[in-house]
This record gives sequence, structure tokens and C-alpha cells, in this order.
Amino acid sequence: MAFETILTETRGKVGLITLNRPQALNALNSALLGEVNQALDAFEADANIGCIVITGSEKAFAAGADIKEMSELNYPHTYMADFFSGWEKVSGRRKPMIAAVAGFALGGGCEFAMMCDFIIAADNAKFGQPEIKLGVMPGMGGTQRLTRLIGRAKAMEMCLTGRMMGAEEAERSGLVARVVPAADLLNEALKTADTIASMSLPIAMMTKETINRADEVTLSEGIRFERRLFHAMFATADQKEGMAAFVGKRPPEFKNG
Ligand code: CAA
Repeated sequence: MAFETILTETRGKVGLITLNRPQALNALNSALLGEVNQALDAFEADANIGCIVITGSEKAFAAGADIKEMSELNYPHTYMADFFSGWEKVSGRRKPMIAAVAGFALGGGCEFAMMCDFIIAADNAKFGQPEIKLGVMPGMGGTQRLTRLIGRAKAMEMCLTGRMMGAEEAERSGLVARVVPAADLLNEALKTADTIASMSLPIAMMTKETINRADEVTLSEGIRFERRLFHAMFATADQKEGMAAFVGKRPPEFKNG
């Protein structure tokens, strides 16, 4: 598929999306959102793809929503068009998604990264929610996801001051899963994605769905949901294969069924 704002490729069982608006530090405009969703539709429909990696450039994962585009908007339009609601389609994806972040992940860039299941960061990554400096606040989930990931005190500080957080602090705070040298970022992210894609896809999808429930429900409801899906896993051939392979001292061959 030919796109104008992103590049896509398939690496084995991994779908790779590279944000590609270098002249605007990968600012997230409406065209890019549409193309990301088209690419994700294609990867989700492709039974061979077991994990998706989203990355940017060495300088910027994404420097935010496109301020030039937003500067033209007014309240009736944003309300009537439910501006930014298209990002819920991105965050609602069912296959595992990793954000591989180098450079700036600011505003919507940080929010897009947080929509992925986890973030692997280059040591030069810088995260921030600087919207307050523009007279707005995060509008793609930042106030909610950042608070859940790093806690209220740090989320308040980040959103009220607009300061940036380096990779090391981001890892310490729980925003990113792992920090790697910038030169290794894509390889490390692809290797991790490949590991996930080598598992049973339905089991990985159920695991993702169950962890995501933790944001929505009480502990007892979450544990009940977990146990019900855990029981359901015994209806899959992949559970039989995984356990038989362990007992037989051989690697499993999952068939996604
Ligand atoms: N939107 C549109 N264009 C952007 C952009 C953005 N978010 N961020 C950078 N650009 C453009 C710049 O305008 C510039 O374009 P021109 O050459 O045509 O002027 C180009 O990218 C390069 O940027 P800089 O010259 O500013 O690069 P720098 O290295 O000096 O600074 C930066 C880098 C600190 C990231 C700086 O670009 C910056 O502060 N960007 C804006 C960050 C921001 O406020 N993000 C939040 C956006 S609002 C949002 O995301 C709302 C939401 O909740 C979703």
C-alpha cells in the first residue's frame, strides 16, 4: 500500500509502521491518522501478523498533534467532528502493538505511544505533555493514560508544567518498559515483537484484553474476567500444544487455533 505520511512493511510475522513526516517532526495530522488506521486495518486482517511495531525517526517519534492544522479549528467544528475520536480506533486494536520511541514523543506523540501496549525507548527519547503551553491540555488520552502509568503526582507535574522527561526517568516512572541504546532501538523492538509473534496469537490477544480490563474494572471483577478467559484457553489447540511441548521437552508449534 502506498501512503504519504507513513511507511509500512512486513518483517516476518511483524507489521512495521514508520511515521514519515520528517519536515514536521512526524506531527500527527488527520491524513496521518487515517493512514495509520488503514495500515492497522491491513495488519489486523493479515492472519500472518502476530505483532505490530510503530516507530518514528531518530529525532522524533512524533512532536505532537499537528499544531498548524489545529490552529485553524474552532469549537463547533471540533465538537461536531468529534475531533481526535479517530484515535480511539488506534487504541482499540486487538493485536499486540509496541511503540519504539526515539527522540521527541510530545503531546499527541506521547499519547500515541501510550496507546500501544508498551513502549521501548531509545536512550535519547524525550516524553512530555506540553499542550498547556499552547493553551490546551492533552486531548488524545494523555491525562488518563499518563496518570495510570506514572501516577497522579508526576502526571500532574508533567501536564501542568509541560516539562519533558528523559528516557531514564520514563523507565523509572513506569512509562516505558525498557530503554536501549538509540542505535539498537528498531532491532530490539523487532526482536521483542518477533518473540510475541512466535506465541499463539489468540492467547496473546486474550492476555492483552485481560490486562487492559485492569484499567476499567474492580480487582475482583478483573480477576473473575481473567479466570473466565483462562478457562476458555483450555478450548484451544494451542494450549494443548504448548503444554504437550513442555512435557515432551520440545519447542511448541502454535497454530493460532
Ligand atoms: N505540529 C506541527 N508542526 C510541528 C510540530 C507540531 N506539533 N512540532 C514541530 N513541528 C514543525 C515545526 O513547525 C518546524 O517546521 P518549520 O521548519 O516549517 O518551521 C519543524 O517541525 C521542525 O521543528 P523545530 O524547528 O521546532 O525543531 P526544534 O528541534 O527546534 O524543536 C521541538 C523541536 C522542541 C519538538 C519543537 O518543534 C516543539 O516544541 N514542537 C511542538 C511540541 C508540542 O507542543 N507538541 C504538542 C502539540 S499539541 C497536541 O499534541 C494536542 C494533543 O493533546 C493531542
